[in-house]
Amino acid sequence: MAAAPAQHFPPRTPGPARLVVLVSGSGTNLQALIDAVADPAYGAGIIAVGADRDGIAGLERAGKAGLPTFVHRVKDFRDRADWDRALTASVAEYQPDLVVTAGFMKILGPEFVAAFAGRIVNTHPALLPSFPGAHGVTDALAYGVRVTGCTVHLVDSGVDTGPIIAQGVVEVTDADHADGGEALHERIKTVERKLLVDVVGRLAREGHRIEDRKVWIPA
Ligand code: GRF
Repeated sequence: MAAAPAQHFPPRTPGPARLVVLVSGSGTNLQALIDAVADPAYGAGIIAVGADRDGIAGLERAGKAGLPTFVHRVKDFRDRADWDRALTASVAEYQPDLVVTAGFMKILGPEFVAAFAGRIVNTHPALLPSFPGAHGVTDALAYGVRVTGCTVHLVDSGVDTGPIIAQGVVEVTDADHADGGEALHERIKTVERKLLVDVVGRLAREGHRIEDRKVWIPA
């Protein structure tokens, strides 16, 4: 089968890349991005934060930073397709260059993925393609791996199956089995926040190319 043609995503010029960040929880990855964009040299600005639930620390962090927010709860819609359509419309209003799902615990629907194809960046707390899904940390621990970590990747129509951009490695210790993975997840998140900030900044400043499942960011 012939390889698909390369897809090019040049950096946004002029001005900082526009980021919409989607969250579901504590939002420490969002906070890392909020801190990073304070430096004009970073090359990106957060223009809005969206969530799939109310009352989360992630939305509080956005509020404190003075960022516009929106919430779409699946249960308020007739079905998943309607929810996906509303989420797509809300994000599209902000005309983002990149959408970052930072601990967003919903699978994005086909309309959303098509609207922002090649420009949705997700962070996952395991070394993909191992341990995709909502329980990456505990699945890796239960399997008995000795190293795990995090993966920053582009989102496609599958669950954590899109092209990998960067990965960070974290060692599993014997003690990690005692607390069900909480301490391990915290160590992963320390690596994850740094990696996400680094990758998003590079994508914003340099653009990227997707070719044969590989993501190339000009040096
Ligand atoms: C991260 O480890 C992310 O990969 C996972 O959930 C965690 C979110 O953390 N899906 P936070 O909300 O950014 O603190």
